[in-house]
Amino acid sequence: MTDAPRTPLLRVHGLKCSYGQAEVLHGVDIDVFPGEIVSLIGANGAGKSTTLMCISRINRASGRIQFDGTDISSMAPEHVVRRGLVQVPEGRRIFPRLTVRENLEMGAFIRNDTDGIEADVERVCGMFPILKQRFAQQGGTLSGGEQQMLAIGRALMSRPRMLMMDEPSMGIAPILVAQIFDTVKNVLRAQGMTILLVEQNANAALRMSDRAYVLETGNVVLTGTGEELLRDERVRAAYLGH
Ligand SMILES: Nc1ncnc2c1ncn2[C@@H]1O[C@H](COP(=O)(O)OP(=O)(O)O)[C@@H](O)[C@H]1O
Ligand SMILES: [Mg+2]
Repeated sequence: MTDAPRTPLLRVHGLKCSYGQAEVLHGVDIDVFPGEIVSLIGANGAGKSTTLMCISRINRASGRIQFDGTDISSMAPEHVVRRGLVQVPEGRRIFPRLTVRENLEMGAFIRNDTDGIEADVERVCGMFPILKQRFAQQGGTLSGGEQQMLAIGRALMSRPRMLMMDEPSMGIAPILVAQIFDTVKNVLRAQGMTILLVEQNANAALRMSDRAYVLETGNVVLTGTGEELLRDERVRAAYLGH
C-alpha cells in the first residue's frame, strides 16, 4: 500500500439535492484523490445519477463541490468541463445522426487546436478500434456497447483530468462490458486518469476500484477500499447476491 495523496482532486461535502419538494440527496460526502478509481454503488433509485448530475452542475444542489482546489459549486456546467471534469452520461446519449468521427469531434468543443484534436481522435480509436471501423457511420446505428465506447471516447476528447461514468455496463453485451472495464482498468488508469464510477454491477466495480462509497436513499452509509467492501457482510448480502 502506498500512502494516499492528501489533497483530493474532487471533494464533495454536504451535497443535498431535491426534485420538487422531495429531497433525494441528504448531505453526501465524497473525496476522490488524483489517479484513483472510486466507485459509487447502491440500489436503483439510491441517488447515484443525481450525485453525478449535481457534481457536473447540471442539477441544482446545495453543499460544497471543490475540484482541483476551486469551488465549482455555482459554476456553469460548461466551465466545469473546461476545468477538466467530464461526465459520461447514463444511457450513453451520443448524437445519433452524427457520424462517429463527428461525435468525437463534438467532444472537443472546448478546444481549438486542430492538430491536437486530430491526434486525439486517433488515440481514442486506438483505445477502441471498433470506432475506427465505424468511423463514417451514424452514431445511432452502433450497437449499445459501441455507443458506450463512443460516449467514453467523446468525453476523452476534451482532455479531461477526471471522468465520471454513469453505469457504463448498462444494457450492454457481456463481451463489450469486459472490453470497456478492461480499458478503464488498464488503459485509463495507466494514463493516470481519475475516475468516479457509478455501477449497478457492484462486483465488477469494486474489483477495479481503489475505494468505494455505498449510497442508500441519498446517504453514504459505508465507505472503504474495494477489497474491504467486497468482503463486507452487508455489501455481500445487499449488492453481491451472497
Ligand atoms: N428528474 C427527476 N424528477 C423527479 N425525481 C427524480 C428525477 N430523477 C431522479 N428522481 C428520483 O430521485 C431518486 C434518485 O434517483 P437517481 O439519482 O436516478 O438514482 P440511481 O441513479 O441511484 O438509480 C429516485 O427516487 C428517483 O425516482
Ligand atoms: Mg442512475
